[in-house]
Amino acid sequence: MSSNEQSQSGNQGETASTDAFEPLVLAFCCNWCSYAGADLAGISRLQYPTNLRIIRVMCSGMVHPNLVLDALTKGADGVLICGCHIGDCHYLQGNVTAEKRSSAIALMLQDFGIEEQRFRLEWVSASEGPRFAQVVTEFVEAVRKLGPSPYKPQAQASYV
Ligand code: FES
Repeated sequence: MSSNEQSQSGNQGETASTDAFEPLVLAFCCNWCSYAGADLAGISRLQYPTNLRIIRVMCSGMVHPNLVLDALTKGADGVLICGCHIGDCHYLQGNVTAEKRSSAIALMLQDFGIEEQRFRLEWVSASEGPRFAQVVTEFVEAVRKLGPSPYKPQAQASYV
C-alpha cells in the first residue's frame, strides 16, 4: 500500500469515527419557562437534534454545580441549563443564582480538565420554542466538535 493510500485510508477511518460520535447532552430546564419553551418547540414540530435528554427542574437556581460535574464525569458530553430570562424567575432570584454559579462551574470544569464549552447557561421563555430549538442545535453541534467527554471512556468502563 502506498503512503498516499495509507493516508487516505487513515483519513477515512478518522472521518468514520468522528461521524459516528453522537454526543449525549443533558438539559436542565426550569418548569415555568424553558420546559414550556421546549414543549412549544415540540408542539410546533421544530427540528432539533435528538441528542438531548431533558430534566425538568422547578427553577434553574435549583441545579447545584455538583450535578453538572456529575453528569460530565459519568457519561454526558455536554450540559445545558435553561431558565427564565432575568427578571422573570418565578422564585425571584433563582436564575440570578444560576448565573452566579455558572462562573463557579467553569472553574470546577477547569480543575477537572473538562472544556468549559461543554457547559452552557441559556434563558428561554415559554414563548420561545424556536429559540429553544436554535440553542439546542448550536450547543449539540459545539459539543460534537469537542468530541466525547474526557471522562466518557472511564464512565463507560465502570458500567461494564
Ligand atoms: Fe425559571 Fe427560576 S423559575 S429560572
